[in-house]
Amino acid sequence: MTKLVLFSSANKQGNTAQLIEEVAKHHSLEVIDIDALTITPYNYQNNYPTDDFYPLVEKILAADKLIFASPVYWHAPTATIKALIDRITELTDVKRLKPKARSLAHKPAFVLATSASDELCPIFNGFFEKVFNYFDIQYSAHLHANCREGFNIESNALSQFNEALNK
Ligand SMILES: Cc1cc2nc3c(=O)[nH]c(=O)nc-3n(C[C@H](O)[C@H](O)[C@H](O)COP(=O)(O)O)c2cc1C
Repeated sequence: MTKLVLFSSANKQGNTAQLIEEVAKHHSLEVIDIDALTITPYNYQNNYPTDDFYPLVEKILAADKLIFASPVYWHAPTATIKALIDRITELTDVKRLKPKARSLAHKPAFVLATSASDELCPIFNGFFEKVFNYFDIQYSAHLHANCREGFNIESNALSQFNEALNK
């Protein structure tokens, strides 16, 4: 059972990294720092140099559960996560890659997020809801830590998330 974390943050030892560590106390996770990868931005010609995108797609497709881990930066996930999702558009554009886009369907996906707010930003969450909905990815659960003062996860939220990730 592969639980693949796609991690992005400007701070590799920051709050989002800490949130992943909390979850990793209860699950075996494979974490990929996607900021360290080269993902060429999407272009309409779908003409790309060799980069890390196709190997990452294979890892994503092979994973049983997909976990996006990002801080809330200006109501949105990080630029790398956005660039990855933009590039996934290629899978829907190019005929030979379309089966890969279709293979995303029904994959259980999760979101780990940290911010300086009590609640997870609805714009940030809405981004994932819309993207997952487009690809028929199953949005299983999210876990948010409010890091305005320290590192706070709402009571029961961690156990509920762990339960969802175990299903
Ligand atoms: C560039 C930037 C933008 C931010 N935008 C928001 C925001 O829109 N809403 C919010 O609640 N917190 C915002 N924050 C606070 C971060 O979400 C919060 O500190 C988060 O836990 C940082 O995670 P990290 O340590 O992994 O970077 C922002 C922080 C930065 C650096």
